Amino acid sequence: MAAFDVVVIGGGPGGYVAAIRAAQLGLATACIDDWRGADGKPALGGTCTNVGCIPSKALLQSSEYYEQAAHQFADHGVKVKGLDLDLAQMLRRKDKVVKASNDGVAYLFRKNKIQFFPGHGSFVKAAADGYQIAVGKDTVQAKNVIVATGSNPRALPGVEFDEKLVLSNTGALAIGEVPKRLGVIGAGVIGLEMGSVWRRLGADVTILEVLPAFLGAADEAIAKEAAKIFAKQGLKIELGVKVGPVERKKTVQVQYTTADKSSKTLECDGLIVSIGRLPNTEGLNAPAVALKLDERGFIAVDADCRTNLPNVWAIGDVVRGPMLAHKAEEEGVAVAERIAGQKPHVDFNTVPWVIYTTPEIAWVGETEQQLKARGAEYRVGSFPFAANARARALGDPAGLVKFVADAKTDRVLGVHIIGPFAGELIAEAVAAMEFGASAEDIGIICHAHPSLSEAMKDAALAVDKRAINI
Ligand code: FAD
Ligand code: NAI
Repeated sequence: MAAFDVVVIGGGPGGYVAAIRAAQLGLATACIDDWRGADGKPALGGTCTNVGCIPSKALLQSSEYYEQAAHQFADHGVKVKGLDLDLAQMLRRKDKVVKASNDGVAYLFRKNKIQFFPGHGSFVKAAADGYQIAVGKDTVQAKNVIVATGSNPRALPGVEFDEKLVLSNTGALAIGEVPKRLGVIGAGVIGLEMGSVWRRLGADVTILEVLPAFLGAADEAIAKEAAKIFAKQGLKIELGVKVGPVERKKTVQVQYTTADKSSKTLECDGLIVSIGRLPNTEGLNAPAVALKLDERGFIAVDADCRTNLPNVWAIGDVVRGPMLAHKAEEEGVAVAERIAGQKPHVDFNTVPWVIYTTPEIAWVGETEQQLKARGAEYRVGSFPFAANARARALGDPAGLVKFVADAKTDRVLGVHIIGPFAGELIAEAVAAMEFGASAEDIGIICHAHPSLSEAMKDAALAVDKRAINI
């Protein structure tokens, strides 16, 4: 039986990154992953690479180009004649982008001498010198186990995904023909990103959201701006609805009750259900070793990702915390380092969020409503992209940057952005918060001109009412 210092179950961004870090630290490492690509071959990278972050961003980019060619190029003096959509090519390109990432992870495994076992891993038993895990016909022995089995889409009760009419993220990324009317349940991250893709490609998109407030996790000023912009783009978002029976014939009929209690039916040619995700512990055979799950089905872990079992750790979507690839990665690195005897730390307060719509939405730290709720004394500085020269040159002047800082110390408590490349700009805010910077620290750093990052500088200066460009 092959024996390892570390066996990682799951080859998504949590698992593959943990395996690489463990191998870098000199630990004999193996990774088990059961994902198969359309060709039936192993496809490393998990949900993120295969049906998540990567393919969604590929389609967001392609659909954005299509929309720009149709509606924005003319303003730049670029005339487009005979614009046409080749959806099959767009989907092929997306598949190629995914394949390059699958191959990239496989290359990194070879480079770091990580033994890869394609197949399903399940616990057999705890032994004196570690744990036995079955994978196909093999059994491997592990001194330490890192469980990184990720998550699965949550279905509406009684409405199974068929990936033709009722679509999870998997089907939503592979619709062969642009639906005339697309319904989306859930105005969360997937709903907004995938809703945007198909709207840009010509679908009439209606999103039904149970909560009365739009984008409740974001800062209210940003959410308000986003709602305005998305409505202008033609994305129909109904808030405070209660979704009832869903019927499938040639089309899908969704019965729902609106916020003012009237009954309505949404008829659509495809329905994306994006109402959150559930931890994936199926087939892990957790009972064989008495691995504890919490009341919501996540693997129960402490702040350092330790489970109830000695030397068994769990990371990423299968444990508490935000379901984000970079959160999974940070936990993976930290756990590998803990196994090697180091003392790393993951700060959840500096995990950034990015929604890759147009404009992008990104934030880190606390929102203004959170600060109010905890009675904090704070100051706010905002700066609109309309007053930023680079944003105007790009033709993307919508949105704003908002800093919230401690009223006494000026320490940055949160940064909230809606605007061009918000997902890139947020990195400066994350660094600032990690280093305990004040808003003034950002305001007095030299930022290149003309650049979008100047909006960060001006918003930071605005905290002390000394922004230059407004
Ligand atoms: P996963 O990526 O789910 O990987 C788990 C792997 O383990 C899978 O390959 C699975 O098949 C395998 N596995 C499960 N059980 C077993 C077993 N018993 N044996 C062997 N293998 C097993 N996050 C971002 O940060 N940015 C984004 O832009 C973003 N976009 C997203 C878009 C979509 C449409 C979706 C659905 C998600 C997106 N996410 C994004 C979330 C991100 O994909 C997840 O947070 C991330 O993949 C979690 O990583 P993980 O390693 O915990 O699990
Ligand atoms: P989500 O949690 O972002 O959004 C789900 C939405 O559905 C919420 O607004 C919720 O109120 C609503 N909802 C729940 N039940 C409902 C019901 N019965 N009827 C109507 N609305 C209902 O989850 P989503 O969009 O499915 O994405 C899953 C996770 O994947 C996200 O939480 C995120 O962590 C990750 N992700 C991250 C991305 C990024 O970082 N850019 C992109 C896509 C996904």
